[in-house]
Amino acid sequence: MRTILVLNSKGGSGKTTVAINIAGFFADRGQAVALADFDVQHSSLDWLASREADRPEIKGIDAANHGLRVPSGTEILVMDAPAATHGEELGALVRRAQTIVIPVIPSPVDLRAAERFLSDLAKVRVVERHEVKVATVANRAREGTQATAELGEYLEQLKLPNGRKLPFLANLRSSVNYLRAAERGLSIFEFAPMATAPDRECWSPLTKWLTSARSVPE
Ligand SMILES: Nc1ncnc2c1ncn2[C@@H]1O[C@H](COP(=O)(O)OP(=O)(O)O)[C@@H](O)[C@H]1O
Ligand SMILES: [Mg+2]
Repeated sequence: MRTILVLNSKGGSGKTTVAINIAGFFADRGQAVALADFDVQHSSLDWLASREADRPEIKGIDAANHGLRVPSGTEILVMDAPAATHGEELGALVRRAQTIVIPVIPSPVDLRAAERFLSDLAKVRVVERHEVKVATVANRAREGTQATAELGEYLEQLKLPNGRKLPFLANLRSSVNYLRAAERGLSIFEFAPMATAPDRECWSPLTKWLTSARSVPE
């Protein structure tokens, strides 16, 4: 089973948006997907509840209330983390993942929060030892803005304390398509192909990474 965690201690960074779209991407490819919601706000499970019945099934797991009970036969487990994860809770989440995707919003406040969060994450043993693969994406990026350029520069040069580079994979643009698709429980991979083409283009380095051996620990 592939296990993918979407993580950032900052609320509103796009964890749920990225998690549901990763889940939809793999479901659309015909894989057996489960989506575990670790947030008591249940945004991922709400999204699933509105999913059109004729779409490929994604199984929901209420991990916040009932723990991580993964249905048998799951091929891809996507985990949507809550905000403010740190300390032992952070370690416990991270140990469940082979792959971690960290969305960061281009803003000075989010950038500073990301610096603190990434330094905490780097201290988790499985991250130190490369037993989990970590990558970043900028989310709600606006082309040509200073905040997006500054965030890109920062994410581009990120290294773990052991010197390994953290891949910075994508600038996910700010787009109303995420909301429109989500209203029907869909991802941008399953919704309005013409309108979402630019969004899927932004995602392409991320989906390539997620479907390649590069995102799986050796
Ligand atoms: N790329 C994007 N374009 C437009 N809106 C976005 C994008 N990413 C997130 N949002 C919106 O921003 C808000 C916060 O995102 P969310 O995914 O819930 O963050 P988190 O789970 O980290 O708290 C939501 O209303 C979501 O729809
Ligand atoms: Mg969320």
